[in-house]
Formats: sequence, structure tokens, C-alpha cells
Amino acid sequence: MAQASPRTFALAQRVMSVAPSVTLAIAAKAKEMQAQGIQVLSLSAGEPDFDTPDYIKEAAIQALQKGATKYTPATGTIELRRAIAAKLKRDQNLNFEPSQIIVGTGAKHAIFNVLFALLNEGDEVLIPSPYWLSYPEMVTVLGGRSVFLKTTEATSFKLTPDILKKGITDRSKILILNSPSNPTGAVYSRKELLDLMTVLKNFPKLIVLSDEIYEKLIFGGAAHESIASLDPEMAQRTVIVNGMSKAYSMTGWRLGYAACPNKELAEAVGSIQSHSTSNPTSFAQAGGVTALEKGEDDARKMCQVFEKRRDLLFDLISKIPGLKPFKPGGAFYLFVNIAQTGIDSVTFSNRLLQEAHVAVVPGKPFGSDEHIRLSFAASEKVLTEASTRIASWLAKK
Ligand SMILES: Cc1ncc(COP(=O)(O)O)c(C=O)c1O
Repeated sequence: MAQASPRTFALAQRVMSVAPSVTLAIAAKAKEMQAQGIQVLSLSAGEPDFDTPDYIKEAAIQALQKGATKYTPATGTIELRRAIAAKLKRDQNLNFEPSQIIVGTGAKHAIFNVLFALLNEGDEVLIPSPYWLSYPEMVTVLGGRSVFLKTTEATSFKLTPDILKKGITDRSKILILNSPSNPTGAVYSRKELLDLMTVLKNFPKLIVLSDEIYEKLIFGGAAHESIASLDPEMAQRTVIVNGMSKAYSMTGWRLGYAACPNKELAEAVGSIQSHSTSNPTSFAQAGGVTALEKGEDDARKMCQVFEKRRDLLFDLISKIPGLKPFKPGGAFYLFVNIAQTGIDSVTFSNRLLQEAHVAVVPGKPFGSDEHIRLSFAASEKVLTEASTRIASWLAKK
């Protein structure tokens, strides 16, 4: 077996500034403990715990058997881009030509390519905080500068017109919106987006990147609102990013897309993709078409299960002295304020794993060291048992 080389390489400057993933380190530790036979309860999953519905799998199998084993157009098959355009019309009442849609290997890939196509050195990206941890890392790698717009429980972890206005400078190029949000589960209402729009109207050059990956996971019968749907001017300056991962439980399939408001951006994003990864996997795309056309009932059912678990976990954690959970309106995360415990989020998560065998995610890489993120993409049994362990661990401190 080859030995690890003792030589070191001069890595690219831009890579040096990328933070190693704290969350992956904790996940690795949890796996190591499990391998030693320790029963670790994990509330750290970033993906639904359901299997992909069978008819979606079947569509991919059929495509494979019919010979879908070759390159497709780099930006995705015409069938899938048409299905996405139809979905955007059906759900968001937005008009897109298939040529404006770039399908990549996951929403993460789509976001990276859009930022790649837009950012010049020093351009500022406005990121409401807490944020999905990959946004600032991507911005850094691409030479941009993240400007964090701090939100707290006081604004239900949402931007207000005031917070937004204060963050904008003449270097601001992109505003990232993520509703429902990872890690807080905050969901913007139409009224809240309209309020933000009044500010955005004064800064016509600012582009909005709307990450709608948790769109199908909204609780209490509330509707998903896309800022692009508010008026034609917003539609022309918003890039919508979405994908199949969370809605249809297809994280491993790696399918996501950017719907670009104009041809120029679509061509730029498409060109970057054509020189890096080329098309997303051919037969996975066939499954993607079926998910978009037939998956709504299953998406709704999975959302109902998540809502029940949200209520259960919220109640259980609310009862634990020192913990203050924020009630999420969507996604599958409970963002819990741990400030009263006096322990920072990384120490909290490490010790909880080590001493109580419960894996959670520290808030620090999401922009808040006073919070932890619990995923309710786990069974009710696991949620209940994990909450009991957390309560007795904290009681001993
Ligand atoms: C907010 C947010 N955006 C995008 C993604 C990327 O999803 P995928 O690349 O699986 O489509 C994730 C995944 O965790 C996410 O939480």
C-alpha cells in the first residue's frame, strides 16, 4: 500500500482561508464511537431519513436499462429542464425557458457555479446570519467578501428592512435569502418579503440568490413564497436555486438547479459547468423528471411527518432548563439557544457526544456560538431518547 508522502505542497492561497468543517469532525467522531459499539443517538443529519419513493427509483432504473449511459447536454437533459420550468410555473408562477435553467449535481453545486459566474475580487455578498455554513466558504474561495447581517430570536431569525439597509454598501453585489432556513427553520411570509423588497428597490443592481431547497417542508399550512414571484422587477434580478434532495428524499442522487433570470447569466453558469463537471448523472436526471411530475403527494406526506416530529422535539427540548429552542416554520432543524448553560457550542456538542452519546451540530460554523442545531430527521423514538439523555446530562452539570 502506498505510504503517505512526507513531502508538503504549497497549497493555493484561496484554499488556506477555507475553514475545516467542525460538523464533519463531529460526525466522524460519532461514527468512530459507533464502530466501537457505543450506541450514539444522532440528531445531526442534514438529510431526510426516508428512502426515495419507489417510482422515482424505477424511472432511473428504466432509463439506465434503455441506455441512458452517455453524456447529456452539460446543463441537463431537455426533459428535466422542461420539467423544472413547468414546476416553476406551477409552484411559483414564474416563466422560465429551459435554456435559463442549469441543472447541476445538487443545489450546492448550482450555488457555487452561480457565485463563480458573478463574483469579482472584493465583491460583497450579504448573508443573513445564522446561515448555511457553505455560503461564506464558497464566497471566500471565489475571492468575494461575506457581510453578515445578524438576526436573532428577536426578529424570528429573519432580516428586517432595517437590518438589510444597514448592511448594503456600494460593493454589495448579491443578497442570499434562504427560506425555509438551515439552520433556524425560519420561513419568510409574503408580507416580510414585500417589506424587504421596498429596500431592494433602492438598490437595483443588487442580485438576489434565493435558496429554496427546503421549499416543500413548511409547516402549519403556510405557503412557500419566493421573492422572485413578488413582481416582474424582482423576477428579473433573482436567481432561484432549488433541487430534489430535501423535497423527495434524494440527497444521494445529486440533482439541483439554478433558474437564471437572463440568458447571459445562464450561459455563463452553463459554460463554467461545461468545463468542470459537465452534466449531472444521466439516469439520475430521469428520476428527477419523475420526482417533479409525480412526487408532490410523497413530498406532502414527508412534510407531515416532519411537522409531527418538530412539535415533539420542540416540546421535549422546551422543558429542559437552560435550553431555549426556536420554533421552526420549516425544514427539519431545531435551533436551540444554549447561552444560559454558559458553554460554547463546540464544547457543548463535543462533550454531549463524549459524555451522553448524543450527536448534535454546534452553531458556531453557522454564525452563532450560542446555539446548537438538532435535526429531527430521526424517528420519534430517537428524538425522545436523545432529549432524555440531554436533560439528564445537563442536570448533572
Ligand atoms: C440551505 C441549503 N442549501 C443548499 C443545500 C444543498 O443541497 P444539495 O446540494 O443536496 O441539493 C443544503 C444542504 O444541506 C442546504 O441546507
